[in-house]
Amino acid sequence: MDPQSLGVVICRSDKLANGGPGVRFVIDDGGTRTPAFAIRYAGKVYAFVNRCSHMALPLDIKPGAFFDNDKRYIICATHAALYDPTDGRCVSGPCNGAGLMVVAVIERDGHVLLSGNRYQSASVETIEE
Ligand code: FES
Repeated sequence: MDPQSLGVVICRSDKLANGGPGVRFVIDDGGTRTPAFAIRYAGKVYAFVNRCSHMALPLDIKPGAFFDNDKRYIICATHAALYDPTDGRCVSGPCNGAGLMVVAVIERDGHVLLSGNRYQSASVETIEE
């Protein structure tokens, strides 16, 4: 089966291990390019815009390194803000209660796909590190 027939594919499901490196991708929505990333936490895939709510910087300095040492929270590499991987909520640090922007994703037939209406006409460019 052509994976693209499933929808807008971000990556294969087996690219994401629990608490492992994330997959970075760019959503191209009519020329607006938004950096994002997908991770797996407790068996489920989540995705967010790759922009810290403290300063408009990517969360990972080492590409794909989104989890803290305990693999419990998403951590910003610049000033160590912590975010809940299930909803992007700010847990501690200079995010000061402002969370990450969620990108809706689903898994289907071994692939991670964009979901929902927000990026219906978007394409995705996965960044291989
Ligand atoms: S830029 Fe992310 S915590 Fe400061």
